[in-house]
Order: sequence, then structure tokens, then C-alpha cells
Amino acid sequence: MSSRPSIDLTGDVVMVTGATGDIGAEYVCALVSAGADVIATDVAQTAEAGQELADRATELGPGKAVFTTVDVTSDDDLAAAAVLAVERFGGLDALINNAAIYRSLGPKRSLRELSNDDWDTTLRVNVRGSWQAIKAVTPLFIERGGGRVVNISSTVARAGVPGFAHYVASKAAVDGLTRAAARELGAHNIRVNGVAPGLVSDSATEAINPDGYAARSAQTRALAREMTPSDLVGAVLWLASQTSGFVTGQTILVDGGQVFA
Ligand SMILES: NC(=O)c1ccc[n+]([C@@H]2O[C@H](COP(=O)([O-])OP(=O)(O)OC[C@H]3O[C@@H](n4cnc5c(N)ncnc54)[C@H](O)[C@@H]3O)[C@@H](O)[C@H]2O)c1
Repeated sequence: MSSRPSIDLTGDVVMVTGATGDIGAEYVCALVSAGADVIATDVAQTAEAGQELADRATELGPGKAVFTTVDVTSDDDLAAAAVLAVERFGGLDALINNAAIYRSLGPKRSLRELSNDDWDTTLRVNVRGSWQAIKAVTPLFIERGGGRVVNISSTVARAGVPGFAHYVASKAAVDGLTRAAARELGAHNIRVNGVAPGLVSDSATEAINPDGYAARSAQTRALAREMTPSDLVGAVLWLASQTSGFVTGQTILVDGGQVFA
């Protein structure tokens, strides 16, 4: 069930990467419900799910969604998505950098068990891909007189959860990218912020954690319940909108009060 936040994105065009996962799909539906037109993107293997998502979101309205395949490590894919944004919706106002190696991390592994390939693949998608996506959309934002980037981080970057060192390091690097890009792009009226979710009870989390892990984790929150993708919508849409006008370079933790750092 998608939230319908009161943030108004009518007339805005937003690109979402990694859109077909449970969380990305929630962003797409919420953005369309808030009035935005959305370029939903994900890797080629997800094309069927992506098309279904775009149809479902457009049916919700009042905005529209189209799906196109984008591997965020491909400059060509990103350039083609930027062209699509211009052709279909006349430009672009915001990017949700949500794509990541997360579900495919597999079970937790120690520092010594991780391979160089594990490390490189995760950093390449999560960090390099986020930077590549920002690079690809920046000219479109400048064309419109400004834009907003929301980089999806994770509270593990602050908490340092064991068993996923490569993923933790990648999300800490995303936080650094948020600050650096905010400083550099402010001159173009482009704001760059982050949202760091806590553990979400979605199918990806179920795939990589033991049974009952999310329920146990929830007990350590100030708001002691499990978190759903819809809990992220308010923060993401706020940062993607003009409403957050003078906020840049920040990463907001959305985790029900679990990590205070
Ligand atoms: N689920 C959680 O508990 C949780 C917690 C904190 C942060 N996050 C972050 O939230 C985001 C969404 O997570 P999710 O739970 O939906 O995980 P997920 O693994 O289901 O979603 C990630 C999406 O990224 C896509 N992707 C992977 N490699 C890609 C590439 N090279 N190019 C483009 N897309 C690619 C996948 O196809 C998938 O749709 C991720 O950035 C994740 O790190 C999730």
C-alpha cells in the first residue's frame, strides 16, 4: 500500500534508479501520487516488473511513470534515460539514487571471507553508480535552473554492522558523495541530500538475514516496531521537493530512533 503524502510534486519530473525493488517501487508510486512524472529505471533483468510497476503507478496517478532499463554503472544507459526524460516529460527536476547491491549481498560474511570481487562489485554499483547517475542528470538540472538529488544511504554506515563490511563502506562513501556533491553543485542551485533507512522489513532483507532478524531489531528502536518501505516516503519526497528548499549536504536517518549518530 503506497502512502499519499501531502507534498505536492505536480509538474516535477523525477528519475528513480533501482526502481523495481520493494523500496524503489514504493518511491515510484508515492512520487506519482504526489503529482510527479517518473522515469523509473532498473537493470535489464527487471524489465517486465518495471513495466508492470510503471503501469500500476500511472493508474494510481495523477502523475505518470515510464520504465526504462538502466544499469547505473553504464554511462550510455544513463544518458539514454536522460534523453527519455526530456522527450517524454520535457526535462528532469530530481534524482532518487536508490539502486544498490543489497538483496544480492547474500548471507553475512566476515572481513576475511569477503572476496575482492564482492568488494569491487558492491562499491562499483553503490558508490560509482550513484556518482555516475548524478553526472548524467546534472546538465538537465542546470537546464531547468536547479534540481534535487536524494542519495539512498543506510544507517549501517553509522552503526557499522558486522558481516557486510563492503556494503557498510559503500554507504559511508555515499554519505561523503552527498556532502561533496552538495558543495560542488550548490552554485547551480542543485541540492544533494541523503536518506539513510534503518532495517526495512522487505523481501530483500528477508533474503539476506536469518528468520526473525527484523522483528528482533525492531525492539531496539525508540518506536519499537518493524519498518516498511512506506516509512521512507515522507523523508524522500520532502528532500526531492522544493519544500526542503534550503537543506543540502545532509543525510537524514529514518529508522524509528535506533541509531543516534
Ligand atoms: N531493505 C533495507 O533494509 C535497506 C536498509 C537501508 C538501506 N537500504 C537501501 O535502500 C535501497 C533499496 O533497497 P531494497 O531493499 O529495495 O533492495 P533491493 O536489492 O531489492 O533493491 C535494489 C535495486 O537496485 C537494483 N540494482 C542492482 N544493481 C543495479 C545496477 N547496476 N544498476 C541499476 N540498478 C541496480 C536492483 O535490481 C534492485 O531493484 C538500496 O539502496 C539499499 O541499499 C535498504
